[in-house]
Amino acid sequence: MQNEIQVLKNAVPPLLKWYAVHKRELPWRNTRDPYKIWVSEIMLQQTRIEAVKGYYAAFLEKFPTVKALAAASEEEVLKAWEGLGYYSRARNLHKAAKRIAEEGFPRDFAGVRSLPGVGDYTAGAICSIAYGLPCPAVDGNVLRVLTRLTADERNIDEMSTRIAFSDLLREVYPAEAAEFCQSLMELGEIVCLPNGEPLCARCPWQKMCAAHLAKREADFPVRSEKKARKTQRIYVYVLKKEGKFALRKRGKEGLLAGLWEFPNGTTDESALYGRPLAEKWARHVFTHLEWDMTGYLIETAGSFPQFTFVTPEEMQKSYALPSAFKAFKEWVK
Ligand code: ADE
Repeated sequence: MQNEIQVLKNAVPPLLKWYAVHKRELPWRNTRDPYKIWVSEIMLQQTRIEAVKGYYAAFLEKFPTVKALAAASEEEVLKAWEGLGYYSRARNLHKAAKRIAEEGFPRDFAGVRSLPGVGDYTAGAICSIAYGLPCPAVDGNVLRVLTRLTADERNIDEMSTRIAFSDLLREVYPAEAAEFCQSLMELGEIVCLPNGEPLCARCPWQKMCAAHLAKREADFPVRSEKKARKTQRIYVYVLKKEGKFALRKRGKEGLLAGLWEFPNGTTDESALYGRPLAEKWARHVFTHLEWDMTGYLIETAGSFPQFTFVTPEEMQKSYALPSAFKAFKEWVK
């Protein structure tokens, strides 16, 4: 342990130097506003930087302050989040905004950590980046970088490993907390890539990385075996009636809770609605589940009071439809 602290202490200066030169210009890197940093960190949870970029600017334009976000309706917030996935993030953001609008943005780790939707990683990132506090933000990227540097064979899926690395980082946090926090993320995102592909020639730690020196980059990090995803057959009905399309709101719990969707189910009930004009197959991969979807476009004459019929324009403007149904949206016109 003492040894790991020393290794990491020595590794900090070259990393900061590398970051100053090679960091990417990202839209949330020119601010210390905790609201804007918070929004960026929530969007970046489980989501690629490229996917977040466009949403971030649009979201802040729509909700420039935490008060504006707090004053919006949940439907508006979900609509701004449409396509980003993991919608409970948007709901938690909205819930937290209402609290922050009343009480002000929390100023320390415990306060930030207590916001809905903010875990240890996100609280550490916000406190480091917005406030310059020595609060580690340890995610899969950071663990990959650190386990390679130290050739640490502990399983990173164990909570105890995450805590150990978090403790280790706290020991070496430099005064430049925002830069340090993001330099670790950056190294994991653009150099120390997962699987067999790290770009060691560009790495500031090339001469001190234990995994690299042993040519064992691919052995780290050590992880638990992944469980296979379940596949579900889903039949999706795009029902058109007098220029409008049927939507229904999902239940308050579980996958895609509270979002709008085309009527669908796990058995083929297309005959209930009419004869399909078109049929299309699509797949959508969630974290723990995969939908194998057959979609039908059906012009229907029936009456379906359980559905909400909306025009294409209304759907575009006011109804948040998750990306899982994107393949069938082309029929909505
Ligand atoms: N991943 C999560 N937060 C990030 C940030 N602030 N910069 C780069 N990558 C990130």
